[in-house]
Amino acid sequence: MLGLLVETDSRWAPRAAREVTRLLVDHAHCEMKAASNALSLSGRALEHRDVMCTLVDIAQEELTHFREVLTELERRDLTLGPPEEDWYAAELRRRVARDRKQHHEAAVILADRLLVGALIEARSCERFKLLEAALRDSDAGLSRFYGTLLASEARHHRVFVELAAKVTNDAHGTRERLAAVAKIEASVVAELRSEPTVHG
Ligand SMILES: [Fe+2]
Ligand SMILES: [Fe+2]
Repeated sequence: MLGLLVETDSRWAPRAAREVTRLLVDHAHCEMKAASNALSLSGRALEHRDVMCTLVDIAQEELTHFREVLTELERRDLTLGPPEEDWYAAELRRRVARDRKQHHEAAVILADRLLVGALIEARSCERFKLLEAALRDSDAGLSRFYGTLLASEARHHRVFVELAAKVTNDAHGTRERLAAVAKIEASVVAELRSEPTVHG
């Protein structure tokens, strides 16, 4: 699915569906981080006006998602606690940076960050699909909510890959790098412990 090389462990979705409070609090923080990450990347793409504007649009959309998750929390009388560490996203960034080694060009670094973003979007899309199915009987409203979100994550995945190709002006090189980043992503996912968080 969307270039992901491994599937999420089958134990993850049932556990997340049982621990909806922890899932939703973590999910709210993920959307907030997605918005701020897109905004911060837009500030690194000043030389590519179309890339910058697309990233601002994505940031705005992620903020809307954040607001929607907050509404889900309010509906359940839950408050937004502090964020949990997102080991998956942090470790993926670390391993991709390590793999980049000698490349220090701004465009290469930006493209890598966009490809990391593309993989995170793909993984979130896969997991929202699993949640849609796992919550269907216990919480039909939340199941539908995840059903609507997964379409935008799939679109964000494609857009991030396109933006990486624009920034480097190298479609072939971008496809090759995407394949390498997908391998790194699979190695991180293999170490997850099915915690009931979006990237757990
Ligand atoms: Fe989102
Ligand atoms: Fe997204």
